[in-house]
Amino acid sequence: MSTSLRLASRSLARTSLRAPKPTTASIRTLTTQQQRSQSNRQQQQQQIPRTIKSGVNPGALGALALGTLVGWYFYSNKEITPTKDSWKKVDYNAVYKDIADLLEDENYDDGSYGPIFVRLAWHSSGTFDKKTKTGGSEGATIRFHPESSHGANAGLDVARARLEPLKKKYPHISYGDLYTLAGVVAVQELGGPTVRWRPGRVEKKENECTPDGRLPDAAQGADHMRDIFYRMGFNDQEIAALVGAHALGRCHTSRSGFEGPWNASPTSFTNFFYTELLNNHWVPKKWNGPHQYVDKESGQFMMLPADMSFKSDAQFRKYVEIYARDQDVFFADFAKAFAKLLELGVKFPEDAPVYEFKTLE
Ligand code: HEM
Repeated sequence: MSTSLRLASRSLARTSLRAPKPTTASIRTLTTQQQRSQSNRQQQQQQIPRTIKSGVNPGALGALALGTLVGWYFYSNKEITPTKDSWKKVDYNAVYKDIADLLEDENYDDGSYGPIFVRLAWHSSGTFDKKTKTGGSEGATIRFHPESSHGANAGLDVARARLEPLKKKYPHISYGDLYTLAGVVAVQELGGPTVRWRPGRVEKKENECTPDGRLPDAAQGADHMRDIFYRMGFNDQEIAALVGAHALGRCHTSRSGFEGPWNASPTSFTNFFYTELLNNHWVPKKWNGPHQYVDKESGQFMMLPADMSFKSDAQFRKYVEIYARDQDVFFADFAKAFAKLLELGVKFPEDAPVYEFKTLE
């Protein structure tokens, strides 16, 4: 792709970050909150004259009010551990909108938390082992030590911290639901396909962290990719579709050791991973860091050794060529594979509905 085309797609990427409008759901939430605080105020106003009239010492009244305030503070900050049925108490359309509101930030990376939300959703889920039926997004053990400190998860604390206020706002949502939904919101709001999503993941404890080594090593090739993704239950076509998410975001030396974005529009979900992989001439980067590739023409874009195996392996390449030719086919296949990834190992309640969220306009 020429430099001017790249610049054009970068500005397209910027404008693709839409300013979200409030939904009815969020308006409803606000109104309920306003009503609640208004009725609290009314109760306080009613109580004060009554107690003063009954001759209570104003000092004691102040202490009582302070006690009430402290009590209210602790009550409202109390952590709720979601139980089996908690998922029913959450307005997921409202959560979707609130996550979408958290995406854009011109001071972070390329202007969006979307790419790191996708990576968080994938690393929460990609620990699944179909033989032992352990790992996966249920329980969100990625937030606990030692899983949070596994090398592959470096930097994901940034995404979890960004989402944490929503856990406070919607205490009944499980972390597994929150992290996977964040991945869905990011894919959709950055211009990708609609991804079907179900709620109902329950929490797990710290001692249920998965062992290190279940996520792929970027320095390795096709055999390793198959070992890792076959273990989760994916086939070659699904693996090739999933890695197309590397159209988004970038590598950070402070996190993985690798450096740079895959293309010029890292905040747009496109099929550019495949077009760039096939159309550019990739050469080893000359630097003091881990072995990776850069495009010979500009030196600005990168590929991991693992990414390159999707070009050199004939089975993977078959799909890379299809997805490079036809973005619609890629979108359809990615949506299916990503939804499957987010559900690996999850025991959903029988009555959990499937959501297909509308993007914000
Ligand atoms: C095929 C094996 C894969 C390998 C070896 C791999 C490796 C990596 C590495 C090393 C990074 C850079 C992290 C950093 O320095 O910040 C990265 C970023 C990323 N990966 Fe992967 N990944 C793989 C598959 C996937 C899959 C399946 C998805 C999603 C479906 C995904 C989504 C992302 C995204 C969106 C980023 C950018 C994060 C950011 O900008 O902060 N990756 N990946």
